[in-house]
Amino acid sequence: MDVKKLVAQMTLEEKASLCSGLDFWHTKPIERLNVPSIMMSDGPHGLRKQDERADHLAVNESIEAVCFPAGSAMAASFDTELFHTLGDALGASCQAEKLALVLGPAINIKRSPLCGRNFEYLSEDPYLAGQAAAAYIKGVQAHNVGVSVKHYAANSQEHRRMSSSSEIDERTMREIYLAAFETAVKEAKPWTIMCSYNRINGTYASENKRYLTDILRGEWGFDGFVVSDWGAVSDRVKGVEAGLDLEMPASRGVNDAKIVKAVSEGRLDEKYVDLAAENILNIVYKYVENAKPDTVWDKEQQHELSAKIAEECMVLLKNEGGILPLTKSDEIAFIGEFAKCPRFQGGGSSHIRCFKTTSALEAAEGYPNVRYAKGFDIETDTTSETLLKEAEELAKKSHVAVVFAGLPDSYESEGYDRVHMRLPECQNELIRRVAAANPNTVVVLHNGSPVEMPWVDGVKGILEAYLGGQAVGKAIVRALFGEANPSGKLPETFPLRLEDNPSHLFFGGEKDIAEYREGVFVGYRYYDKKKMQVLFPFGHGLSYTSFAYSNLRFSKKEMTEHETLIVSVDVTNTGKVFGKEAVQLYVADKESTVFRPEKELKGFQKLALSPGETKTATFTLDSRAFAYWNTQIHDWHVESGAFDVLIGTSSRDIRCVETVDMSSDVQLPVTYTMDSIFLDIFGNPRAKAAIKPMFDAILGILGPQEGESSTALEAISPEMMEAMLRYMPLRCGLSFGGGRISEDQLNALLEQLNRA
Ligand code: BGC
Repeated sequence: MDVKKLVAQMTLEEKASLCSGLDFWHTKPIERLNVPSIMMSDGPHGLRKQDERADHLAVNESIEAVCFPAGSAMAASFDTELFHTLGDALGASCQAEKLALVLGPAINIKRSPLCGRNFEYLSEDPYLAGQAAAAYIKGVQAHNVGVSVKHYAANSQEHRRMSSSSEIDERTMREIYLAAFETAVKEAKPWTIMCSYNRINGTYASENKRYLTDILRGEWGFDGFVVSDWGAVSDRVKGVEAGLDLEMPASRGVNDAKIVKAVSEGRLDEKYVDLAAENILNIVYKYVENAKPDTVWDKEQQHELSAKIAEECMVLLKNEGGILPLTKSDEIAFIGEFAKCPRFQGGGSSHIRCFKTTSALEAAEGYPNVRYAKGFDIETDTTSETLLKEAEELAKKSHVAVVFAGLPDSYESEGYDRVHMRLPECQNELIRRVAAANPNTVVVLHNGSPVEMPWVDGVKGILEAYLGGQAVGKAIVRALFGEANPSGKLPETFPLRLEDNPSHLFFGGEKDIAEYREGVFVGYRYYDKKKMQVLFPFGHGLSYTSFAYSNLRFSKKEMTEHETLIVSVDVTNTGKVFGKEAVQLYVADKESTVFRPEKELKGFQKLALSPGETKTATFTLDSRAFAYWNTQIHDWHVESGAFDVLIGTSSRDIRCVETVDMSSDVQLPVTYTMDSIFLDIFGNPRAKAAIKPMFDAILGILGPQEGESSTALEAISPEMMEAMLRYMPLRCGLSFGGGRISEDQLNALLEQLNRA
C-alpha cells in the first residue's frame, strides 16, 4: 500500500481520527477509503485479548490463553535465544487471534525492589534488558505482527504513575534508563513504542519531543508508531507535534476534534498530523497485508513450552551440602499453599486468563513419597498455629522439607508499589519453624522482585522460581529432583535489607517529583562501588554441576575506539551432569576522569555443556562497551587508558581478568578562559607546554624563599604550594606573578592556549 498517497486523499478530520483508538484495543477504520482497523492486546508474557467488555487492568475477562514466565523470570535465563522462542510463540498466537500487536516487552529498569511492576520488568541492568528485549522483538515480529516496547521512559515506580515526574540527569538517562530502549530500537526495529504515563524532567512522556522525536527517531532511527500508554495523554495537540502518533484508548472524538481545531487555527502544522497518520497506517498495512488468520494456536504445546522456558529461568540461590537435587525414594514434604496454588504471574494489565495451570503438587503426582501440608493460607495471610504444627509434624517425618513461599498477589501489582521488602510474616514464621523441625529444609520462592530472607542461614537450599508462568510447578519439580539442572542467574541484586538500596532515600519522590539522585549507581553499580555485602549478587546462580574457566584471550592488547575487541574464554563442565552456564563479561574503566561504576555488564552467553565438555564463549566488544555518556559533547565518549575485561560466573565471582589499552583520538572541545585553572590546562599536553613556564615562575615567586624562617617553611610546604597553584585560575597570574606578568601577556597566552 502506498500510504503517502492514501493519506494525501484524506480530509483533515479523517487523518485526525486515525490519531486515537476506536475503543480499548482497536485503531480506527476509515470506511470511505477502505482503511481497515487493527487490534492489539497485552502482553508481555501471554495474550490478554478481550472481546466485549474491555479495560486496561484485567478487570474483565479475556480469552483463554497461555501464561509464560513473566519478565522477571525470563531475564533470569540470561538467554537471548529463549526470549526469541517466547517471542516466536507469542507472534504465532497473535496471528491466530488476529492481533496485529502484542503490548510488550516491558523493559523499565528495576531501580528499587519496591516498584510494583518489577515482576514484568527485566533487570536492574540496561545491557541485559536491551539484549533480551531485542531477541523477544525479533521472535514476535518474524510472524509479521508487531510489539510495543514499553514504557518509554523512566517509569520505574507505580506511585503517582500518571503524574509523577522522573527527574534524571542527562548521563544517567542515557546510560541507565534509555539504553535498553536504544538497543531494542536499533537492533530489532520494533513496530511500535509505548510512551509512559510519567513526566520526564517535567514534561509528560506523551508530549516530550526530545524523547519521542529527537532521540527515538532522529538518533535511533525508529520508524514505527508511538502509542500512548492507556490514558497517558494530557495535551493531545502538543503530543501530535512532539511525535505521539496514536492515543489509546479512545477519547470519544474529543481529542481528534482538538487536533482539527489546532490545525485550522494555525497552532499545529498539518504535516504533523500527516506524519502520525502515515506512521500508523504503515503498521496497519504491514499487518493486514501479511495476516495469517489460519495459523494454528496449539495451547497444549505452548503449555509444555511454558514449562520448558520456566525450567531455564530457575535460579538456585543456595545449595548447602548438595541438599538438592532431591532423591525420589526419600520422603519429601511439600509445605505451603503455593505448592498447590502457585503464584506465577502478577496482577494488572499483564494478567493472563490461563487455559490450564500446573502446580508443583500436580507435577509431583508420579512421586509416591511426596506429602503435602498447607503451612499458611494465601487468602488470609495470617499465622495459624494449627497449620504450623501440621507442617512441623510432616517436616519431622520427612528426609527433606520443601517450603513453597512467596509474595501473595496483593503484595506486588501494577498500580502501586510495595512498601517493604518482606515476605508475609506467616511465611517467615513457617520457614523458621520447619527449619527448626528439620535441618534439611529447602525454600522455593515465587516473587517478582527481591525479598528479605531473615532465615537464610537456617535453610540448606533456596530455589528462586520468580513468577514462572502457568506451568511453573512442573519446572520446579524437575529442578528440585534434578531432572533439569537450574541455570538461571539473578538479573538483579538481592540486598540484605531494603535500606541498602541506592534509591532508598528518595524512592517514590515527594509529591510529583521523583528524583533519581543515585544517578548511574543503580543496583550492582552501587553495591560494588560501596563494597557492600549483599544477600545475593547480580548474576548469581548455582548449578548441580561445576564449571571451570580458562584461557581468556583477546584479539589484541591495544586498541583504538574505532576498533572492536574479540574476547574468548573456554568453559569446561567439570562436574558429573549436564548443565548450562551463563558466562558474564564485565568491563571496568581503570583510569576514568568521571565517576564510573566498578564494572558494567557488556556481554553474556549461555553455554550448554555435557560433563567433561569444553566450549568457547566469544564476545565482540565495540567502543560502546567502553564508553560513558559525556555531557559536554552530548555523546558517548571513550577515554584513553587501561580497561579490565572481567569474566565471571556472577558479578561477585570473577574467574579471569585481562587488560586492554585503549587509545582514543576524540579530543573533547575546550575553550580556555581567564577562569580556567592550571590543572585543567595541564590536561592538554600542548597547552601544558605553553603554560608551564608561567606556572613555574609563579611557583618560584610564591614558594618559600631562601633564608626564610623554618616556621614559614613548615606552614607552606612546596607540595602544598604546588597544589594550591594547580587550582589557581589563569587570571591570578596578575596578582601573584610578583608584578612580572602583565594583562597583555596573559591575553596573549590565552590566545595561544586556545590555538593549542
Ligand atoms: C499499562 C500498560 C498496558 C495498558 C493496556 C496500562 O495501564 O501500563 O502496560 O499495556 O494499560 O492494558
